[in-house]
Amino acid sequence: MYPERPLPDALERISSRRSVKAIDLAEPGPNATILETILETALRVPDHGKLGPWRLVIFSGDDRAAFGDILAARWQVLHPEANEAQIKFEKNRFLRAPVVVAVLSERQPAHKIPEWEQILSAGAVCQNLLVAANLAGFAAQWLTEWYTYDAHIQSLFEIGDHEDIAGFIYIGSAASKPDERPRPETPTRIRHWRAQKEA
Ligand SMILES: Cc1cc2nc3c(=O)[nH]c(=O)nc-3n(C[C@H](O)[C@H](O)[C@H](O)COP(=O)(O)O)c2cc1C
Repeated sequence: MYPERPLPDALERISSRRSVKAIDLAEPGPNATILETILETALRVPDHGKLGPWRLVIFSGDDRAAFGDILAARWQVLHPEANEAQIKFEKNRFLRAPVVVAVLSERQPAHKIPEWEQILSAGAVCQNLLVAANLAGFAAQWLTEWYTYDAHIQSLFEIGDHEDIAGFIYIGSAASKPDERPRPETPTRIRHWRAQKEA
């Protein structure tokens, strides 16, 4: 039998999952073993054609501050009028959470599997990361922010013509459970197909 049994606790956790703002994601983050489990779980996504159209770049420890220096320098190039507070914010951007995972969508454009489906698979990696982190006892947020779309920052990830940054998943511990947010009423988004009788 597969799956072996229902897991109501997991279902409850996923159905009540909320993102937690990166600024509220404190230590501790996942240790190396748990992080590896979260990452391996995240990559277990549907993938038409078995192309693996994604890759991950992990930021942790002091490397987060080093990347912040790069962000701050780039921000100053883009905004020469930037004040001290803004530059400091950029320096500390990746220090908001113990772990940041960049998810890159890496497509094969000439492949018979449409690029759109390859992009969807990378989106599934992002969502899986949020869910796996949550089930492992951590909170997370999927952010793009300005640096996702900046050509210089993209070049540091060696982004090719058919690649994009799907986002950055910030992972850490949250002090409290966030409130629910307004969501679309599910009946407005779901309908059941009913066979129509031909006139
Ligand atoms: C692709 C993508 C990019 C996002 N980028 C940002 C962002 O740059 N800034 C932001 O405040 N929220 C961003 N969000 C929204 C949050 O990650 C999150 O969806 C929101 O806080 C509520 O999510 P929840 O329903 O999981 O609690 C993004 C969401 C997605 C799907």
